[in-house]
Amino acid sequence: MGWQAPVPRLRKARIVRDFDLLGALPKCIRPVGARKANKEENRRLAFKFGAEYFDGTREQGYGGYHYDGRWRKVAERAIRQWQLKPGDRVLDVGCAKGFFVKDLRESLPGLDALGIDVSDYALDSAHPDVKPHLTKASCDRLPFPDKSFDAVFAINTIHNLDRPGCERALREIERVCPGRGFVQVDAYRTELEREVFLDWMLTAKCYDTPEGWLQLFRRAGYSGWYWWTVLQIDDEIVR
Ligand SMILES: C[S@@+](CC[C@H](N)C(=O)[O-])C[C@H]1O[C@@H](n2cnc3c(N)ncnc32)[C@H](O)[C@@H]1O
Repeated sequence: MGWQAPVPRLRKARIVRDFDLLGALPKCIRPVGARKANKEENRRLAFKFGAEYFDGTREQGYGGYHYDGRWRKVAERAIRQWQLKPGDRVLDVGCAKGFFVKDLRESLPGLDALGIDVSDYALDSAHPDVKPHLTKASCDRLPFPDKSFDAVFAINTIHNLDRPGCERALREIERVCPGRGFVQVDAYRTELEREVFLDWMLTAKCYDTPEGWLQLFRRAGYSGWYWWTVLQIDDEIVR
């Protein structure tokens, strides 16, 4: 056999799927120390995803979840990144009071933006403009047919389920919107970040390093976009 030119090894191009959708939101300072007191009781109340969580004290949740237009820039960013157009259908998974749904619909008239959430309180107190477009449902059982959306956003929602639940939710997002989902979840990169995160978090049941999450994404066959909510050690959250 004579000499043969080496066959070049073909590599799949790496498709970067990380995207800081919430980069336009203002950063929040979080009083981590204050949440350490009465942690178990605060967690118990927060898990109800009721009035305490949304509109109670900061120790128990948001400390007031009000519409202030901050989602507008996120909506515009999403519309650009996903190249959405009038007539497209998008879903916000864990939409809370529907603020992102409202700003998506207003930023692109004709966009059919819907939301789902498990919280009766949030859905009942949703902005009246969007109430008709919001439904009660869980992220691990989306009441929609396969391939029924052009984009699906799950922002700080699926990590409220345990790991098998997260996997089911990722499969559901992929099912209704193959390759065009967006998932943002709690993560930590160092032991110190993990400790601060545990002091702060109330409702997360599944959290991991970015590498751990990526493994779960692969296992679930999730091929959409993602970003991490990382609590930084100076008490600041990068959303
Ligand atoms: C941290 S909040 C995020 C709300 C909103 N996506 C945002 O970024 O402002 C988590 C939301 O997930 C909702 N949630 C919790 N478990 C859920 C589930 N199994 N399915 C759908 N939504 C859920 C809560 O009610 C809450 O509205």
